[in-house]
Amino acid sequence: MADQQEIPEGTMQNVLDQESLKWVFVGGKGGVGKTTCSSILSILLARVRPSVLIISTDPAHNLSDAFQQRFTKIPTLVHGFNNLYAMEVDPTVEHEDMGSSEGMDSLFQELAGAIPGIDEAMSFAEMLKLVQTMDYSVIVFDTAPTGHTLRLLQFPSILEKGLSKIMSLKSKFGGLFSQMTRLFGMDDEFGEDAMLGRLEGMKDIIEQVNMQFKDPDLTTFVCVCIPEFLSLYETERLVQELTKFEIDTHNIIINQVIFDDEDVESKLLKARMKMQQKYLDQFYMLYDDFNITKLPLLPQEVTGIEALKAFSSHFVTPYQSLCSSDPVERLERRVSGLKQQLEEAEAELERVKRGK
Ligand SMILES: Nc1ncnc2c1ncn2[C@@H]1O[C@H](COP(=O)(O)OP(=O)(O)OP(=O)(O)O)[C@@H](O)[C@H]1O
Ligand SMILES: [Mg+2]
Repeated sequence: MADQQEIPEGTMQNVLDQESLKWVFVGGKGGVGKTTCSSILSILLARVRPSVLIISTDPAHNLSDAFQQRFTKIPTLVHGFNNLYAMEVDPTVEHEDMGSSEGMDSLFQELAGAIPGIDEAMSFAEMLKLVQTMDYSVIVFDTAPTGHTLRLLQFPSILEKGLSKIMSLKSKFGGLFSQMTRLFGMDDEFGEDAMLGRLEGMKDIIEQVNMQFKDPDLTTFVCVCIPEFLSLYETERLVQELTKFEIDTHNIIINQVIFDDEDVESKLLKARMKMQQKYLDQFYMLYDDFNITKLPLLPQEVTGIEALKAFSSHFVTPYQSLCSSDPVERLERRVSGLKQQLEEAEAELERVKRGK
């Protein structure tokens, strides 16, 4: 068993320091803390980057809950910031405006229907296209639980396959294809060429983004989990899939860790701590080449900007048990923590003043 004491504690500082990063995905099993962690990461990035956008691609959108502010599919400035924007997109409904013209609908839907996932892929591509033009310094994705996220990352290849399928249909049926479009009452604007043009354009963006997603200088995937069996299992699956898609991942956040710093009398807590330790050891063993950041389980939820900011200190300073050290050490640590908070508050004040 790995001895916790000997392993240097990791932090998320590496993500804040990597200035070249453009896309940061945050994913993991349902309810482990993806929204909390992506929100905090976006807040921390906003301190070191000119502009940050956080996007939720989870149909259950909970950025609004985390920040306690309503967001829509249009990037909106987060209260109290001048460079942090948030938006919530729903990959499952966007495509409805895709084939709004009659005639095109039937044929296009017919074709699209033959390629599973292509409509979702198209709306994801539309969203990425939009985001690309907006020129944010870094974009953080709060993704939906694992299965959905992995599907999202497969979209580029789905779209590519779909396009080549349609192209081959076109060449096979040649004139018949255009006769059909006329028959279906499509004018030039919505006809076959327009449709193919649109798909072609989409393919370019998808290829470009796909290349960026596979570039570890530009993209990384942060896995969030909790120290439990199912989460460990899911993390391994996620890491393997990401490797398959050639998407960089080297950070694991283990959330909801129960630390031994209070007088833990409760049998239940003690038992859970023991259980957690078993899985923590396994995480450290399996992912010895990852940055592992542990976050404490709080007695209360982490909602609202103030709570998120307060919790953010654990992203940059490893959690240290308070009971195992002597009083001098404990106070020194407290003073340095407070100093850091003061520095951060001062830096932020400066930024807010400059923004006015
Ligand atoms: N370390 C923690 N201590 C206490 N509460 C936490 C902690 N981390 C997250 N929470 C709370 O747990 C709940 C779930 O967290 P969060 O919404 O971030 O998870 P999620 O992975 O995004 O969930 P979903 O899969 O539903 O999107 C929230 O109410 C959040 O405030
Ligand atoms: Mg969430």
